[in-house]
Amino acid sequence: MYSSKVLEHFRNPRNMGKLKEPNGIGKVGNVICGDIMWIYIKVRKNKIAEIGWETMGCAAAISTTSMISELAKGKTLNDAMKIGRNDVASELGGLPPIKMHCSNLAADALHEAIYNYLSKNKMPIPKELQKDHERILRELNSVEHRH
Ligand code: FES
Repeated sequence: MYSSKVLEHFRNPRNMGKLKEPNGIGKVGNVICGDIMWIYIKVRKNKIAEIGWETMGCAAAISTTSMISELAKGKTLNDAMKIGRNDVASELGGLPPIKMHCSNLAADALHEAIYNYLSKNKMPIPKELQKDHERILRELNSVEHRH
């Protein structure tokens, strides 16, 4: 059901855990399964210098977040913002359709961490990121109401 790459990331997750002093935090909730995920970033000189994450999600969520953390590390904020939902699943050799919503969680959490960093530092926020943020917040609220 899972590709060998998904399993490999699940067994050896990269960058897992909370960062000590992140300057951006993204928290998202999955409206389909109710799972929650956090991505922590430390931005230096406009680049993602460090990244960490925690998830209550499933194997697919762990693998996709591990993969997205590798893709995002070292990228400028602009390039990291372009990492989208489909990139993650396709890098991993595809996911079973029933698990696609899990990979969306990782991309959303990354975008949300970047949003958090930009807004805390009063930096301009691109329209797309603002739209993502509003949707993510709505979804998170609906998930948290269920717990
Ligand atoms: Fe919830 Fe995969 S089932 S993140």
